[in-house]
Amino acid sequence: MARKKIIAGNWKMNMTPSEAVELVNTLKPLVANDEVDVVFCVPAIDIIPVMEAAKGSNIQVGAENMYFEEKGAYTGEISPAMLTDVGVKYVILGHSERREYFAETSETVNKKMLKAFEHGLTPIMCCGETLTQREQGVTMDFIRQQVKVGFLGVTPEQAASAVIAYEPIWAIGTGKTATTEQAQEVCAGIRACIAELYDEATAEAIRIQYGGSVNASTAAELFAQPDIDGGLVGGAALKPDFGKIVNYK
Ligand code: PGA
Repeated sequence: MARKKIIAGNWKMNMTPSEAVELVNTLKPLVANDEVDVVFCVPAIDIIPVMEAAKGSNIQVGAENMYFEEKGAYTGEISPAMLTDVGVKYVILGHSERREYFAETSETVNKKMLKAFEHGLTPIMCCGETLTQREQGVTMDFIRQQVKVGFLGVTPEQAASAVIAYEPIWAIGTGKTATTEQAQEVCAGIRACIAELYDEATAEAIRIQYGGSVNASTAAELFAQPDIDGGLVGGAALKPDFGKIVNYK
């Protein structure tokens, strides 16, 4: 069965709640496309106003992070139940910016993965190499490690429903998209890794996105690759261009 593409915006630390509502109102008609899943991953404080603004549209709302404990003395964190209580379905986990600036490791990402599944949230687990790792030829070793640790203890059924975003760090926010060949090669490698960890059926079901400077002119070619099931889009998700990305065909 063909995998449904999933095209997600990662707003990062942008948009106040009032700006967010304005942006959703602008994008709503532009991102109408029932053939793909459209997800807006937004700052925690924007989740509720974005949901309200997106009502009746095909936009699904996701979070950019969450903590792996149920509740308690974790000042500043958001729990999985807080997300599901308001109807959030997706959560980005282990984005490279969180790994770099907020000390996330594959081990903490794994704890978050398990907690997300426990609460019925679909994780969008990010992985990706630095430029140095690419130049040293260890890209796939590094990513396999991130995937293997991230999926420790995840059942085949859960894995089949997950989303992995391959985001080469050197391509994020730099305007330097990976070539279609580079992106396809790594996404195929990730799928092979899932087949080794689980089985062919799980590998066929899991959705793997490419992320890193995706824009309206690169989306079509990237998303046409056999192992690229959509994109995780940063900068271009805040512009009307996101509509062109969602309607890439
Ligand atoms: P970018 O960000 O599209 O601005 O490169 C992608 C991401 O970090 O998810």
